[in-house]
Amino acid sequence: MKYQTVRALLEEKGQAQLLRYYDELNAAQQAALLEEIGRVDWSVFSSHTAAQDAGEISPIRALRLSEIAARRQEFEEVGREAIRRGEVAAVVLAGGQGTRLGSSAPKGAFDIGLTRPVYIFELLVRTLQGVCERCGGRVPLLVMTSDKNDRETRAFFAEHDYFGYPKEDISFFVQDMAPATDFDGKILLEEKGKLALSPNGNGGWYASLLRAGLLPSLKARGVTWFNVFAVDNVLQKMADPAFIGATILSGASCGAKVVRKAYPEERVGVLCRKDGKPYVIEYYELSKEMANARDEEGELLYGCGVILNYLFHVEELERIVAKQLPVHIAKKKVVCLNERGEQQIPAAENAFKYETLILDMVRLMGDCLPFEVEREREFAPIKNATGVDSVESARVLLKQNGVEL
Ligand code: UTP
Repeated sequence: MKYQTVRALLEEKGQAQLLRYYDELNAAQQAALLEEIGRVDWSVFSSHTAAQDAGEISPIRALRLSEIAARRQEFEEVGREAIRRGEVAAVVLAGGQGTRLGSSAPKGAFDIGLTRPVYIFELLVRTLQGVCERCGGRVPLLVMTSDKNDRETRAFFAEHDYFGYPKEDISFFVQDMAPATDFDGKILLEEKGKLALSPNGNGGWYASLLRAGLLPSLKARGVTWFNVFAVDNVLQKMADPAFIGATILSGASCGAKVVRKAYPEERVGVLCRKDGKPYVIEYYELSKEMANARDEEGELLYGCGVILNYLFHVEELERIVAKQLPVHIAKKKVVCLNERGEQQIPAAENAFKYETLILDMVRLMGDCLPFEVEREREFAPIKNATGVDSVESARVLLKQNGVEL
């Protein structure tokens, strides 16, 4: 885009501050800045926010541990057969920035070992490898990265020889970026000729996978189910035959692994229904009354805590891909220029990030099977350096599960 066009656009959007240092830039930097502004997806600022989405909330019943135990063999047989036929692909969401962890390296490259290196990616890959061996099948592993960590992530896998996973079964794809703004909605500059861009949330994973051109070869291999999961749960059990089998047999086009909430106020998203459709409600959207309500068996009515491990059928994904997901606005720390044009590394949250989230895809799916798993065996997220959901708590849980660190 030409300078005049960009200036007019920015004036219309109330974002003319982005050209404040334009005259100080050299020709290449000027061209790069204009191009970056030209690529901004303005729809994130005009989209409805998740908080504006009204609807009637009602509970959903999970397939419980006891019910799963009673039918485990049947579920596993169906799931194993799907894996053997090549119907399942695994997608690891590794585009996040891990700001709470405070490291700029890809989260999956984090070494959680104590006496030897044990990388998060390594743990995930070995778990998946175990499933492939037990089922006698191959599962393509798709790694979603972002502009910020793509090069480093690919190099990390190559350096570690893909942790023994067949290289031809691993693909990488990059998610889109969105600009961060100050609390008045003004887009921030990271440098005089560069916007402060951050990954646009994990809701865009399927659109990014399509854009990367990965679908045709996956379909040719027979893939019909995508098992999508977070990079930072080190006890993640992906491509779990029982989960796959139960979802297939339920007839739903989506499945979600859930843990029973530990207590009513626990800060975890809860699977429920909104106007009859499956929906993940954030903990702060649940009223005290709803959070404490119990069913006839004495279990929390809204007790299905999601752990970011979903199964999606490709046909439904194709149906919903063009739909606009609501935007979540989160306060984060973003490196940007201050009033004097100097780069500052913020000590506290200083910006809004605009993200779409995978949990909102669940609402668009026809139906969703909540599949209960044991928290102590499948949920050890690493969000923070210390305390709750941290490196320390994950180490304790890994040890409990027999992983040598
Ligand atoms: P989180 O919401 O915990 O974000 O991501 P994060 O970026 O890892 O950490 P903070 O909030 O900055 O501290 C949940 C999962 O979604 C992925 C993350 O990599 C993680 O697996 N994710 C998140 C993406 O792939 N892309 C994004 O834009 C955001």
